[in-house]
Amino acid sequence: MKRPNEHSVEIPELDEQHKHVFERFVFVKDTLANGGGWNDTHAALATLITRFEFCSSVEEALMQIHDYPDCECHKKEHAELLQNLHAMEKATLTTGLTEKMIGTAFAATMKHHLTQDRRYARFLPQVRAQAAEHRE
Ligand SMILES: [Fe+2]
Repeated sequence: MKRPNEHSVEIPELDEQHKHVFERFVFVKDTLANGGGWNDTHAALATLITRFEFCSSVEEALMQIHDYPDCECHKKEHAELLQNLHAMEKATLTTGLTEKMIGTAFAATMKHHLTQDRRYARFLPQVRAQAAEHRE
């Protein structure tokens, strides 16, 4: 479960948020691997969810400010990823959280990052160019 630096979206604030999300994934995985009980894994997962919600909110606010045309699709993916994390949270209290659940959620989040987040990052130079035109 690695997140190499080459996955940067070249927006330092978003890279920092993504880093925190992926670090929380590792923490959940480590908590489970170290034999953490439901209370430990639930607490670790709750922190991951909080981080994910904050990161998604920041991205969505920026997309709205920039009038990003793919904003609704991007928000929908955030909602689906969050829904999955909440299902995992529920599993910690019922059937139990598994490494497979964590791995699947991590892979889905990484896929989102490498596709949707990068697509947004590629859109930003257009916004900057338009802003520069308005200043001239
Ligand atoms: Fe995103």
